[in-house]
Amino acid sequence: MDEKNFQEILDIGIALSSEHDLSKLLDKILSKAQEVTGADGGSIYLVNKDKMIFKASRNKTLLEKFGPEKMKEIVKTFVIPVTKKSMAGYTVVTGKLLNIPNVKNIPSSADYSYDPTFDKKYGYDTVSMLVIPMINREGEVTGVLQLINSMENGKPVAFKTSHEKIISSFSSQAAISITNAELNEDLKNAHFDTIFRLSEAAEYRDKETANHIKRVSHYSRLLSEKLGCGPDACELIFWSSPMHDIGKLGIPDAILQKPGPLTPEERAVMEQHTVIGALVLKDSPIPVIAKSRIVALTHHEKYDGTGYPQKIKGEDIPLEGRIVALADVYDALSSKRVYKPPMPEEKVISILKEGKGTHFDPVLIDLLLESMKKIAEIKEEFSDKESDYDKFSGIKTADLKNLLQ
Ligand code: C2E
Ligand code: SIN
Ligand code: SIN
Ligand code: FE
Ligand code: FE
Repeated sequence: MDEKNFQEILDIGIALSSEHDLSKLLDKILSKAQEVTGADGGSIYLVNKDKMIFKASRNKTLLEKFGPEKMKEIVKTFVIPVTKKSMAGYTVVTGKLLNIPNVKNIPSSADYSYDPTFDKKYGYDTVSMLVIPMINREGEVTGVLQLINSMENGKPVAFKTSHEKIISSFSSQAAISITNAELNEDLKNAHFDTIFRLSEAAEYRDKETANHIKRVSHYSRLLSEKLGCGPDACELIFWSSPMHDIGKLGIPDAILQKPGPLTPEERAVMEQHTVIGALVLKDSPIPVIAKSRIVALTHHEKYDGTGYPQKIKGEDIPLEGRIVALADVYDALSSKRVYKPPMPEEKVISILKEGKGTHFDPVLIDLLLESMKKIAEIKEEFSDKESDYDKFSGIKTADLKNLLQ
């Protein structure tokens, strides 16, 4: 490997190790591998025990032919067994790379063969292939990088020995980054799963449904998208809104589940759910929890400064607090509560409009009214059934044990 290639590998390694999102990482690996080898197409399989999952794919010719939408359909994920019969499987089992100048000339005596189904279906002509196992630090084959048709002057030619070398060392960098991204993905999933379960626990006591928090999350993300927040900011609002009422865990049943209106004293206790929530979530170094704390604390502030607990107003109320305030009230009004039946849509809208600039951020109200079609779709997708309301009522301790098995 010459100096230039070595530098290239170093740069790629650095670029890959900074990408923690698995699907973005795989796409980056493919585009870098294409760049280095001039490959027209490429795909990645990830190995999971005795199976290989087709995870990512790029193909310049097919992208031009079909466009990005159809392309997504073409490269939908699928699973194949790890055996020597497929070229990708062969490299997993043997740990050896395959550099095939022309797949039509693979001898029938070989363990593996080329499956022409894909080419026939989409009118593609696979000629040369470079198939490389991705091996991590522990020496495990974690995936396969498969490159198709190295192009020279618009024609597919065989991959070079220099490509083999550079892609081999590149693919072990990729394997390490993939292992890290998978760990990161597991952690993220565990984290978000916990958030939803905790939020559900709070809502069950409130006799609200798990769907309530899902709807509020989706409405909140929709509003932040409409406002023009970036994708990461929108995602953060989505994941920090479910915990807005987590502080209700600290409110006594007699108040929380009271079938009628609250007395002023009960109301004062009830309003503490914002502060209790902020205390539960305080001092977290995790961004989504820090954001959740702000949402819990500020989701009952009002735009004119008459809300609680801090009576802050206008833009002094953090944006995420203003967004969740609107999403939460819209959902509370349209849903059944222990203290009230659901309201018809016209009544909900007229209450919200009345609150424009007093209770709610006027800009957000306009965005909500513009988005009623999307709002209705979310409401439909996460609609409450009667049985959702008492999922836990009447369950005895013995039954709970069975539920866990
Ligand atoms: P929640 O049921 O999730 O309601 C959230 C917010 O939606 C309420 O905040 C209020 O701004 C709005 N909202 C809900 N129902 C109505 C309604 O019928 N009309 C109008 N105009 N707005 C409504 P709020 O008032 O600060 O209440 C916070 C939480 O306190 C409520 O959360 C609920 O858990 C509890 N709560 C409020 N009023 C009562 C009540 O009369 N009886 C009982 N048992 N709980 C209440
Ligand atoms: C953000 O991306 O969070 C900023 C959106 C805004 O303040 O309008
Ligand atoms: C924050 O905690 O940063 C926002 C809540 C507040 O308005 O003080
Ligand atoms: Fe609340
Ligand atoms: Fe709520």
